[in-house]
Parts: sequence; C-alpha cells; structure tokens
Amino acid sequence: MAAIALVLLSAAAQAQYFQGGETEPGLPSGCVGSYPNITMCREKNWYLGDTVDICKPLIPYPLPGQQVYIKDPINFCINLPNPDSIFLKNNYYSKGLRPTVVQAEGFVQAFCSGPYLPPGAKPFPVGAIRSAHVMKNFTVPGQHYYQVHGTMDCDALNINCTQSFPGAYDDGGQYDDGPFISCGKEPYSGVDNSTSGNLGFKHYVEMAGNGLFCMRVCEPGTLVEGGACDVTHDTEGCEKYMRVKFTSGFDYVDLAAPGAVTTFSVSLPPLPSPTAMPSSGGGSGGGAGAPVNTVNPSSKSGAISRTWSCSAVFVLLFALYIV
Ligand SMILES: *[C@@H]1O[C@H](CO)[C@@H](O)[C@H](O)[C@H]1NC(C)=O
Ligand SMILES: *[C@@H]1O[C@H](CO)[C@@H](O)[C@H](O)[C@H]1NC(C)=O
Ligand SMILES: *[C@@H]1O[C@H](CO)[C@@H](O)[C@H](O)[C@H]1NC(C)=O
Ligand SMILES: *[C@@H]1O[C@H](CO)[C@@H](O)[C@H](O)[C@H]1NC(C)=O
Repeated sequence: MAAIALVLLSAAAQAQYFQGGETEPGLPSGCVGSYPNITMCREKNWYLGDTVDICKPLIPYPLPGQQVYIKDPINFCINLPNPDSIFLKNNYYSKGLRPTVVQAEGFVQAFCSGPYLPPGAKPFPVGAIRSAHVMKNFTVPGQHYYQVHGTMDCDALNINCTQSFPGAYDDGGQYDDGPFISCGKEPYSGVDNSTSGNLGFKHYVEMAGNGLFCMRVCEPGTLVEGGACDVTHDTEGCEKYMRVKFTSGFDYVDLAAPGAVTTFSVSLPPLPSPTAMPSSGGGSGGGAGAPVNTVNPSSKSGAISRTWSCSAVFVLLFALYIV
C-alpha cells in the first residue's frame, strides 16, 4: 500500500461510521462506507483476524453499482469515485473539490461503455474514455483473465487526476475486491459474473489516475500473490503491473490468436478546452444522468455493434504481446 494513500486514508478512516449519522443506501444505519481501521491494519500486519465490519452491507454482494466486467474495448465497466456518495459529497463535491481515485477508495460506482449495465451501474459520461485496449488471456488454467487499459478524460468524469507527487502517475489508486479482513477497502465490490458480464469470474484489480486506467477481471482464487489478480503489487502502476503501454485507439486481442487484433472504430467528441471546468457542486456531475455511452462504434452495424460486427482488422500485434 502506497505511503501516500495511507496518509490520505487514515484521516478518512474515522468517517465511515457515526452512530445515528447519515446512511448510504444498503448499509447499516450510520454507515457511509466500509473501511478498515488503518491504524489497526498496520498493527496487525494487514490481517484483522476476527474483527467484524460494523458497516458490512445488509444486502448480498458484490453490491449493485459496484460490479465490473470486461468484454471488449467498447463493452466494459470500471469502478470510479461515486458521484452520489455521501462521504464524497461531504468531503469533496460540496467544497468545490473533486476526489482522486485513491481518495474515493471505499466509495465507488461502476461506469460502463456499451449497452449492458450490471445492476446499479451507470453509463460513462460522454467522451470519458479516450482509448481502450482489451486482452483476453486464457492461457493458464485457473488464471484466466481479461484486461483493459486506456486513457480517460478526468474532467468528463469529474474526478481529480492531479498526481500527489511527480512520478505517482496513477497516484497509487487501486480498487479490488480484497476482503475486509485483509484490510480491503472495496471488499463488497466485484465482478458481474452473469452471462452478460464475465461468467464465473470473481476478482478484479484496478488502478487509475492521471488520465490513465487499467483493470483485470479474473477467475476465483487469483487475488493472491502471484495470481492473475494479485493485489499485493497493486500500487506499482499499470505499466509495471500489467506490462502495458498507453496508445491511442480501441482494440482487442485474444492470446489464443495473438497475431490477430480486432480494432474498433470509435468516434469521440473533441476534448473540451482544459479551462472549461464543469460545476463541481452537488456531486452528481460525474455521471448521473449521462445519456449516452462514451464510445460509439462508427461502423454501419448500428444496434448490433456490441458483437463482432465491427470490421475486424488483422494486423501484427506488437505493443500488446511483446511487452
Ligand atoms: C483504530 O485502531 C486503533 C488501534 O487499535 C484504535 O486505537 C482506534 O480507536 C481505532 N479507531 C476507530 C475509529 O475504531
Ligand atoms: C486536486 O488534487 C490536488 C492535489 O491533491 C489539489 O491540490 C487540488 O485542490 C485538487 N483539485 C480539485 C478540483 O479537487
Ligand atoms: C456469481 O456470484 C455470486 C455472488 O458472489 C455467487 O453466489 C455465484 O455462485 C456466482 N456464480 C458463478 C457462475 O460463478
Ligand atoms: C497470461 O497469463 C499467464 C497467467 O497469469 C501469465 O503467466 C502470462 O504472462 C500472461 N501473458 C501475457 C502476454 O501477459
């Protein structure tokens, strides 16, 4: 866990529960999130034993609104700061601030491109995803995963992508479904394991910040050190953890056919001028009510665009499988 994140989050840790306080929907009374006591985590070497989470959700999890999946570069969901979070409203939006990805650990909302939204998920604001590359790696039994990485427009998402210090390019931001008992901060988030999402998958690990994002969704049992969704290296950044490079465009590769890359033609609105700051009050600016998907295939296929109807272009794959 990055030191910077510890500093930011130990201050926030006290704010998860106030007896009789505001209550986030689906949580026990007085809870606005579910967050381990970081002081205790340090003392107990990140294993809380039989400590009970007083803010454990009242409803089954992964919670609605916190379920991700990856199909292809125009059909995926990642978790991002929840524009409707009581905690984020009180501490950021109402003060004219925007949270970074790491500051919003414990308070996430799934945003999706493509027509399928898991329960409670929202479509990305228009133009929020500027590039996306998906890899399917089913080469090792028990370690199957999909991976997405790309660039995002932080203004469109109403999030703060300022680095805490030079070189902290993703600001140590990480979301995963690591359990509360292991000091996980999004323990009740997870993968949409329906047939419309990633059937049978369970874990995810995601990093984002500074206009970059990456995420893997993985089979059960892979959250451990050395697993495909290893959370022990989740502060190292996308380039190191996932061995990716950030390039333009939208494409897909299955390592079972590594020479074939499917590219997707996506029309994006121009980036707004960097001086045009959207209103940050109220907290709903991040995504609520955004009417359309981020990415729209510009092929003639229209409504059936979520399948492979986009023209497949077979080119040699350099960037994705050499690195
Ligand atoms: C967090 O843990 C520390 C050390 O065990 C304890 O002193 C402190 O009271 C705890 N804080 C909360 C809010 O429970
Ligand atoms: C973004 O984060 C930086 C660094 O923490 C901070 O100085 C700035 O005020 C934040 N901006 C907003 C709009 O929240
Ligand atoms: C999907 O996830 C739910 C909740 O974790 C679990 O009960 C169920 O067995 C999973 N289904 C599959 C096919 O993995
Ligand atoms: C595919 O996954 C396996 C198992 O996690 C891993 O050993 C291998 O390096 C991955 N391949 C690529 C190209 O990332």
